Amino acid sequence: MSIFSEKLFSASSFLLHKTVVRVGTRLNSSGSWWCNVPMGPPDPILGVTEAFKKDQSKKKINLGVGAYRDNCGKPYVLGSVRKAEDIIADNFLEKEYLPISGMPEFCDLSSKLALGEDNIAIQENRHAVVQTLSGTGALRIGGAFLARFFPGCKEINLPTPTWGNHIPVFKDSGLSVKRYSYYDQKTCGLDFKNLLLDVSKMTPSSIILLHACAHNPTGVDLTHDQWAELSALIKQKSLYPFFDMAYQGFASGDLDDDAFAVRYFIEEGHDVFLAQSFAKNMGLYGERIGALTVVCDNKEEKNKVMSQLKIIIRPMYSSPPLNGARIVTTILSNEELKCQWIAELKGMADRIIGIRQQLKDELAKAGSKRNWDHITNQIGMFCFTGLNEPQVEKLTKDFSIYLTKDGRISMAGVTTKNVKYLAESVHEVTAA
Ligand code: LMR
Repeated sequence: MSIFSEKLFSASSFLLHKTVVRVGTRLNSSGSWWCNVPMGPPDPILGVTEAFKKDQSKKKINLGVGAYRDNCGKPYVLGSVRKAEDIIADNFLEKEYLPISGMPEFCDLSSKLALGEDNIAIQENRHAVVQTLSGTGALRIGGAFLARFFPGCKEINLPTPTWGNHIPVFKDSGLSVKRYSYYDQKTCGLDFKNLLLDVSKMTPSSIILLHACAHNPTGVDLTHDQWAELSALIKQKSLYPFFDMAYQGFASGDLDDDAFAVRYFIEEGHDVFLAQSFAKNMGLYGERIGALTVVCDNKEEKNKVMSQLKIIIRPMYSSPPLNGARIVTTILSNEELKCQWIAELKGMADRIIGIRQQLKDELAKAGSKRNWDHITNQIGMFCFTGLNEPQVEKLTKDFSIYLTKDGRISMAGVTTKNVKYLAESVHEVTAA
């Protein structure tokens, strides 16, 4: 037998062997092990990107997922991130496991960035911080901790609408999910009256999820005075605030302004949960890097909370990945790189603010008589356009413009090159 036919023979006998084993491991004569698994729907946000990729149109635009694009529509790697990667590569760092709770320097710098260096909880060393798999991981670990240890009612109240993934994240964590009013469809703005009314009716000692800034999907935030009023009501009802801050720096372009609500609540005496993400503000989407901070009453409580967070993390994924933590730590601990990053972040935020105005202007030029003020009134990465589901479907089917069914568009996908086409298409589907 030649070497070639020998190889062929062993490959075919391997296949034969595999087939026999496969038949032998069937559940019974009527079906395989997985024949009863139902087909699930595509993800409401990430599924949009899958559909976009299949479209052959040259004019296609992806306004689905919230991921920043430059004015050529290309993913953007920040210069500060590139420099940090060079520093990391030059140092030939080892690849040992991180501790279960993540890289200590990363945790320290992240919480300082969010809460402010002079934050009372940091000064008193009563905040537990763990590195997480981006903001989603922080929400999930936080949800699991609350389901296990929250002493009040294990019910989390989410705004309507909210980020689509909040609902499964908290349900899968074992919390029951309730909703509160947030958005007024008539004004495309905040429904503060009904928000307060719903908060006043929440189960006392339950949990409330708050978007710290750049509310996803609406781009509608509370003013400082409204945060103050809400903080007082939350205190009165003994609710526990869980902040999701996925867009620090992206709303206003200023890291401190965007952290106002979280810092204010802590100053007002709330012990909060904070989920933080570096996906958007450092463009580290695929690095999956974020943090969960739990503000406790005292240091002893912090140590106990920390021990239990580690017990939750260890059987899930053992310990978090290194690379993203190294990048963030390198940037935040180097004054020059940090300044560069802040300037780049402001550049991204400013491009979005500018393109909002252009979209509004182009809609007027296209002949739209509708009021599009909300495009420039809303902030952050998203615009909640007010388009209904049939209009969204038409936009996708007839114009190859991809967005989520709720009418949310990621402004980051709009460029000076596609804004006219987008405006004309939106006008076409809304004119009737
Ligand atoms: C979004 O809302 O588009 C982003 O937060 C990405 C995601 O994971 O959904």
